[in-house]
Amino acid sequence: MAQFSQKIKRIGVFTSGGDAPGMNAAIRAVVRVGIAQNLEVYGIQNGYVGMIENKIHPLQLRDMANIIQRGGTILKTGRSSEFMKAEGRTKAAQNLKAAQIDALVCIGGDGSFRGAHALWEEHQIPVVGVPGTIDNDIYGSDKTIGFDTAVNTALEAIDRIRDTAASHDRLFIVEVMGRNSGFIASHVGLAGGAEEIFTPEGNTTVEKAIDRIKEAIGRGKTSSILITAEGQKPGRAYDLADAIRKKSGMDAKVCILGHQQRGGSPTAADRILASRMGAAAVDSLLKGYCDIMIGTEGERLVQVPLDLVTKNEKKSQLDLLSLASILAT
Ligand code: F6P
Repeated sequence: MAQFSQKIKRIGVFTSGGDAPGMNAAIRAVVRVGIAQNLEVYGIQNGYVGMIENKIHPLQLRDMANIIQRGGTILKTGRSSEFMKAEGRTKAAQNLKAAQIDALVCIGGDGSFRGAHALWEEHQIPVVGVPGTIDNDIYGSDKTIGFDTAVNTALEAIDRIRDTAASHDRLFIVEVMGRNSGFIASHVGLAGGAEEIFTPEGNTTVEKAIDRIKEAIGRGKTSSILITAEGQKPGRAYDLADAIRKKSGMDAKVCILGHQQRGGSPTAADRILASRMGAAAVDSLLKGYCDIMIGTEGERLVQVPLDLVTKNEKKSQLDLLSLASILAT
């Protein structure tokens, strides 16, 4: 964990990468705790894009009114290819220095944290990260802001699909988000009683899924739900439906939940997590700690060096898949 000694008077806050419900609650906590500690807080629009384009403006207590319950991010977000180049980062650092921003809070995922780590390493701008992504795939934190809401959003949809699946005796394949990680799929699958769950980390095959469905039919089951993460392994939802049809003759309906999982009002759990993490990020900067992310270990908040966070991968739990499969008999 890095330390810096200069006194900070003005901090910047930004959201970056895919938005996640609860990001607004985190911004609110940064602004209100910062102002309570006599800091000036500035918002940077559109993440690193706005840092390069100099979209930096002061935030006041009242700007935070009525946002704790809102999904999305009032600061907007972005994915910046320019910031991946050294010249882009130099431009961003010049803008921050011109605006007299002494330190930053970055709310985002691992790509955003790689950028934050580079800002400290190359330009000595102190940054503390707050993990905000529905994917929950950030090493060093049990939970990320937005995951709980996304799981509940997907679960609500799956419960509805189960009603119609049962009425028509149908097989459904429901695709949830998570290109590289199966956290949403495994949690939603377990909580929604799915017959089979495909995740990038798991090793389920189409053949195994077909066997399980046939066994279930043999036991008198008339409808089934398969959950798949949007990763390519062993295929996207329509590919899986095709493969099942070709290999077994069974018809499968497909439902892709998509970006609705990224929106909506954050759950209480996400609002509380975001509020605690945002406050802890400001507190860490005031104590002179930087180049870290605020994570959770159980209920406890922890500080994890960004270098560790970005160099390691967090994999979803395979034991949830086997439990779901036992429980869905
Ligand atoms: O990282 C969050 C996430 O929603 C992933 O689950 C998904 O693969 C990706 O973002 C989609 O990104 P975009 O909105 O840029 O298409």
